Amino acid sequence: MEQLKTESQRQYDYMEQMKSWVAKKSQELGRPLTCHCTTFGCQMNEKDSEKLLGILETIGYQEVDTEEADLLLFNTCTVRENANTKLYGHLGQVKKMKERNPHMMIGLCGCMMQEPHVIEKIQKSYRFVDIVFGTYNIFKLAQLLKARVDSGSMIVDIWKDTNEIVEDLPSDRKFSFKCGVNIMYGCNNFCSYCIVPYVRGRERSRKPEDIIKEVTQVVSEGVKEVMLLGQNVNSYGKTLEEPMSFADLLREVEKVPGLERIRFMTPHPKDLSDDLIDVMAHSKKVCSHMHLPMQSGSTRLLKAMNRHYTKEQYLELAKKIKERIPGVSFTTDIIVGFPGETEEDFEETLDVVRKVGFDSAYTYIYSKRTGTPAASMENQVDKDVIKDRFDRLLAVLKETSEQNCKKKVGQIERVLIEEVNTHEEGMVTGRLENNLLVHFKGCKEQIGTMADVKLVEEKGFYYMGEQVNG
Ligand code: SAH
Ligand code: SF4
Ligand code: F3S
Repeated sequence: MEQLKTESQRQYDYMEQMKSWVAKKSQELGRPLTCHCTTFGCQMNEKDSEKLLGILETIGYQEVDTEEADLLLFNTCTVRENANTKLYGHLGQVKKMKERNPHMMIGLCGCMMQEPHVIEKIQKSYRFVDIVFGTYNIFKLAQLLKARVDSGSMIVDIWKDTNEIVEDLPSDRKFSFKCGVNIMYGCNNFCSYCIVPYVRGRERSRKPEDIIKEVTQVVSEGVKEVMLLGQNVNSYGKTLEEPMSFADLLREVEKVPGLERIRFMTPHPKDLSDDLIDVMAHSKKVCSHMHLPMQSGSTRLLKAMNRHYTKEQYLELAKKIKERIPGVSFTTDIIVGFPGETEEDFEETLDVVRKVGFDSAYTYIYSKRTGTPAASMENQVDKDVIKDRFDRLLAVLKETSEQNCKKKVGQIERVLIEEVNTHEEGMVTGRLENNLLVHFKGCKEQIGTMADVKLVEEKGFYYMGEQVNG
């Protein structure tokens, strides 16, 4: 009896079928078919876009830098309202492009598509869109394109959730020397302001052997640095048949020969283990950088946010991490203007920022997301008040980050050289373990290699340096 095909084998069959279609079409037109993917949102989406482009490349599309392409994908984000508005603005322009190029196909996917009201709006007002899919079924891109080509009408395929993880599909990496690697999908935390659990579904972890296989593969292709991706990496492995902790996963990834650096995003303060701190303290590869979102410094608001830690617990954790990992760089995410935020609450946030002395922070103005508990809370904060607090927060963060930046001047740091400097000829840009950049003399052949660089001068949030070895 013929064995049942795996999902990835089925998808490779669709890719083959689409490959013939693309070849035929491009013969008709006398030119290659082109594609472009515009990505909004976080590293998860960046990674998903690499997978989508991997499929498109396999079926014969040529990736181009412009949106004037034969297949245009928008991988959307809905974490804040402005991410959402951007897409609708963009689609207006795309409609005009499609009128100029009748061969053009438009695909929409990603987090925003998991919201029913968005789908309704697209089906009603954006009829020129060809395929619409969500976050759970990106692996089906070839199959959806095939369905579109066969039926001649709009294809909408949105799943509510999934337990499935489809492995071994192609991926087209944006950088040759670094990449993201998913370790888990979804989120179970339901922070009261956040839409991610609704659009990315329940937590599911990839098997360690699949993760190690991918890391080994990309390293063999020249990758020096991997970023392990998950919405709450501390929950990694809990639902596996053979449970495994995130700290143990890091120990395994560390063993991959040739890999120089490991980063991860994002840990949650509520369950960051001592074991993880230990791994970071002793590891040669895990970067000495902790991105630990705090969201607010007010215990009262943290409770309303459903974050499961207090101001004191966050401070205690930060202190412990800094003691055990000397020189660790510390960054965070902060939301300003969560419903009911008072001046006192906000000052608690400033207090934590000063006490921890963050190297940098992503700061966000609270955005109301339909369907989340916070959206129906009373006391939404006035816009002007938020704006004022936001500016004050940035001013304090500027102080703490400049102070930290100064501390390293004169030190020699190992950097990964990422690009030639576009502003100054003969210069390259390297990334420090702590994620800051340093510019120094070099050439494009060095891209993707490591170097030791003396930090000669600080410029607030980057450095000028001199290479001290090859
Ligand atoms: N899983 C990660 C990050 C997810 S989203 C974590 O828990 O830290 C990235 C950041 O977006 C969050 O840390 C939060 O600061 C911000 N964010 C999420 N929802 C938001 C909202 N409704 N309004 C403003 N910022 C939000
Ligand atoms: Fe959103 Fe909270 Fe999950 Fe992060 S941990 S994705 S903020 S619900
Ligand atoms: Fe946005 Fe989805 Fe990431 S909502 S922030 S792209 S998980």
